[in-house]
Amino acid sequence: MQLKGRDMLSLKNYTKEELEYLIDLGIKIKKNPEKYYDVLKKKTLIMLFEKSSTRTRCSFEAGMAQMGGHAIFLDWQSSQLSIGAELKDEVRSMERYCDVIAARVKKHKTIREIADSVKKPVINMLCEKYHPCQGLGDMMTIKEHIGSLKGKKLVYTGIANNVSNSLVCAGTKLGMKVVLAIPEKDPDAVDVELEKKAKATGLYEETKDLKSAVKDADIVYTDTWVNIEFMKDPKFAAEKERRMKTFMPYQVNAKLLKDTGSHAKIMHCLAAHVGYEITRDAIDHKNSIIFNQAENRMHIQKAILVSLVG
Ligand code: CP
Repeated sequence: MQLKGRDMLSLKNYTKEELEYLIDLGIKIKKNPEKYYDVLKKKTLIMLFEKSSTRTRCSFEAGMAQMGGHAIFLDWQSSQLSIGAELKDEVRSMERYCDVIAARVKKHKTIREIADSVKKPVINMLCEKYHPCQGLGDMMTIKEHIGSLKGKKLVYTGIANNVSNSLVCAGTKLGMKVVLAIPEKDPDAVDVELEKKAKATGLYEETKDLKSAVKDADIVYTDTWVNIEFMKDPKFAAEKERRMKTFMPYQVNAKLLKDTGSHAKIMHCLAAHVGYEITRDAIDHKNSIIFNQAENRMHIQKAILVSLVG
C-alpha cells in the first residue's frame, strides 16, 4: 500500500482498503514493536498544539521515540504565532527541520492552511470537525476486541461532534452499522457531505431512543457534551446548564447496560467529565475498553507515521 507523502486531515480521502491496511499495520506493530524500532531513525515530527492534550501528545511523542525518531512539541501560545506571525511562514520554517507536521487546531481551515503551505505530510491531531487518529485507533480497538468490523453495530451517544464524524466516516466505510443516539449535533462539527455519503451506505442511522439502540449494540461510545475548555468558564454556565438537561438522559452508565440487557463494550475517547456523559461505574465496568482505546492511539499513530513518512 503506497501512502508515503499523503496528508491525513480527515479519513474522508482514505479508501476502505487503506483504512484496513492502517488498522492491520497498527495491530502488527502492537504485537511486534521491536521489529519497528528503527523504521523512523533520524526522522522528526513537529507537533503544533493550539489546544490542550494528554493522550495525543504523549502517544505521538512515545510512538516516535519507540521507532527511533524524535518529536518536537510546540505550544501555539509559546510560539511566534502568539505575537501575530503568519501561520504559513511559521509552518514553512518548521518543515525545514522535520519530516512530518502534526497539528491540533481550533478550526479545520487552519489545518487545511498548514497542509496547503508545506510539502511534508500533515496529520490532523483534532480540529472542530474531525479526529482521524482517534477514529482509526478506535476501529483498531474494536477489531481487536470483537474480531471484525463488518456487520457490527456501534452506537454513539451524546453530542455529535468531531469524534463521531470520524467514527461515522471510518465505521460505515468498513461495513459497521453506526447509529447516533443523540438529541443534537455540535453545529461547528456538522459535515453535510460526510453525512450524505454515510447515509448512502445504508449503514448510518440517527435516533433519539438510546435504550432501544443499545439493546443489540456491540459498542456504546460517548464523548464529552461540553467542550473541555468551557467546562469551568462562567460565560458558558447557562449553556452548560442547558446541555445538562438535554444530554443527561443520554448518559452512559452501568444501569443502561443492565436495564437493556446489553453486552456492548463501552468506549470513550477521553478526557471524560465523570458524572456527566459517563459514570465511574461505566468507565470501570467489565465491558469497558476505554484504556485500550487510549493505548491504541499510540499503535495506530505508529502505523500512520510509518506509512506517511517511513
Ligand atoms: N482523546 C484525545 O485526543 O485525548 P487528548 O485530548 O488528551 O489528546
